[in-house]
Amino acid sequence: MSAEKRIILITGGSQGLGKELARKLKEDIANTVVVLSNEKVSLEHTTEELKCHSYLCDITDVASVQKVVKEVEEKFGHIDVLINDAGVWVGGDLDDNDYSDIARVMLVNSVGTINMTKAVVRVMKKQRSGKIINIGSIDGIETKEDRSIYSASKWAITGFTKALGKDLEKYNVGVVGIYPGLIDTGLFANSGASRDMTYAMKPEQVSKIVEFILGFDDIVFDQVVFRNLHFKV
Ligand SMILES: NC(=O)c1ccc[n+]([C@@H]2O[C@H](COP(=O)([O-])OP(=O)(O)OC[C@H]3O[C@@H](n4cnc5c(N)ncnc54)[C@H](OP(=O)(O)O)[C@@H]3O)[C@@H](O)[C@H]2O)c1
Repeated sequence: MSAEKRIILITGGSQGLGKELARKLKEDIANTVVVLSNEKVSLEHTTEELKCHSYLCDITDVASVQKVVKEVEEKFGHIDVLINDAGVWVGGDLDDNDYSDIARVMLVNSVGTINMTKAVVRVMKKQRSGKIINIGSIDGIETKEDRSIYSASKWAITGFTKALGKDLEKYNVGVVGIYPGLIDTGLFANSGASRDMTYAMKPEQVSKIVEFILGFDDIVFDQVVFRNLHFKV
């Protein structure tokens, strides 16, 4: 890792967990936080509120991903941490899921995460250092009713995270899979769904866990699973 400031790239940073991660990690003056998101107005609000760097980037658009990663590399000279946080939700029976919803969820959660990682890995391999944190879900290591598509998108990233970690070890790049239970964010409402948040974790709690994980240069946490004590489904 560079002796300069630690450059941390966060996708999905305009709201929810990503925004909270940006807020938390920005508290350490050794960090420079760069937030990415695909919605101009919410990104502008977050940038203004957190006083952080930001770039408009749709992770499903390869050209957009490559352009932004190149710009970040040129501006800061290195990328030390990538947090793949951007994600969307669809629930319900497969019968009730539109083909367009299936494509959207797989494209953002699975392909988008891989697009972003591929672009950043090129930089980290060159540096021979870096950490990639993939925000998966408990739905990417367990199975529950009414969410087969979301689960498929997250299980894909579980496999990706574990296999990529093996490939990148020799480049001194660690890949960490985070598998939280329910978090009190707008994930469900943003997709037109509702969810009981009684036993949800707060994004602030999850951010503290991620901050802790990033606190070790020479230790990689392969798999971190956590949930509210009383959260079951
Ligand atoms: N909430 C939970 O219960 C829970 C539990 C476990 C894991 N997770 C995971 O945690 C992560 C964060 O979700 P959240 O709960 O914080 O939800 P959220 O509040 O809805 O935030 C999702 C973020 O993803 C961004 N995003 C969506 N599509 C994108 C795209 N095509 N390109 C770039 N950014 C895109 C959104 O940006 P815009 O606002 O700009 O669209 C937003 O910033 C997700 O991966 C989710 O699956 C959530």
